[in-house]
Amino acid sequence: MFASTLRRFEGAPAARTALRREAVDREIARDRSTAGLGLTLRGLSKSFDGGRPVIDGLDLHIPAGQFVAVVGRSGCGKSTLLRLILGLDAPSAGRVAVEGGDTPRRIMFQEPRLLPWASVLDNVAVGLRGGTAAERRARAASALKEVGLAEKAEQWPATLSGGQRQRVALARALVSRPGLLALDEPLGALDALTRIDMQAMIERIWRAQGFTALLVTHDVAEAVALADRILVVESGRIALDVPVTVSRPRRRGDPDLAALEGRILDHLLDGRG
Ligand SMILES: Nc1ncnc2c1ncn2[C@@H]1O[C@H](COP(=O)(O)OP(=O)(O)O)[C@@H](O)[C@H]1O
Ligand SMILES: [Mg+2]
Repeated sequence: MFASTLRRFEGAPAARTALRREAVDREIARDRSTAGLGLTLRGLSKSFDGGRPVIDGLDLHIPAGQFVAVVGRSGCGKSTLLRLILGLDAPSAGRVAVEGGDTPRRIMFQEPRLLPWASVLDNVAVGLRGGTAAERRARAASALKEVGLAEKAEQWPATLSGGQRQRVALARALVSRPGLLALDEPLGALDALTRIDMQAMIERIWRAQGFTALLVTHDVAEAVALADRILVVESGRIALDVPVTVSRPRRRGDPDLAALEGRILDHLLDGRG
């Protein structure tokens, strides 16, 4: 889109430089305010091979731009729920309605899933469709800059640390300016300090870009630190749906966050509210 703006002004007299700059600024502003997608799930169910439902008649509305954390015991259906929402898997019953346009929906996993034989830059550009190769490379470079890895563009993935590889995976998910970003335990394999850095990065980029975020995590402290709202999934249903009203930027160790974390952990550990 950027390049097309520039192209429209090609050959214009020099006096129009200011006008061109204005148009470019407008494109950048538009680029920064990617509209998030809203989601409405109605009676959503999924079972595999006619077995017990993994997702069981789930109703849920997620407004555009909300940051939602999904927590729950292993095997309760969190990844299945993400796959249904992303359209990677078909529901057995019910539906997922996506509101707010046709911006891409992207997912990031615990493993970065990079192509070992492609440069860091090319690994990010893989997330893009359309445009010329030069445009794709330019957008990939800007996504890499966003995650603080501009200087690693020409390296091989094998030369990066685990945290850096996850940042490449994040850049690849973000390069297409998704309206929905799903994160399936993205930081689960990282050490504690790297994880805290990445949490701050994800929050910063979410605030700047405005996509809807859906984060599955087993780290309840991470959920309360990042999310506007926490869903506890149990036996394929939403057992608890709590808003996190603490304002941002949030301070680690905030007593309200700690109290909420305790409440959710209690729920997970003994099944009581
Ligand atoms: N493709 C599949 N085929 C059969 N069973 C599956 C499949 N995907 C998930 N399941 C089952 O669904 C349940 C929920 O899995 P999952 O959504 O991955 O849980 P979570 O992400 O919460 O740990 C598990 O019992 C799992 O074995
Ligand atoms: Mg899972």
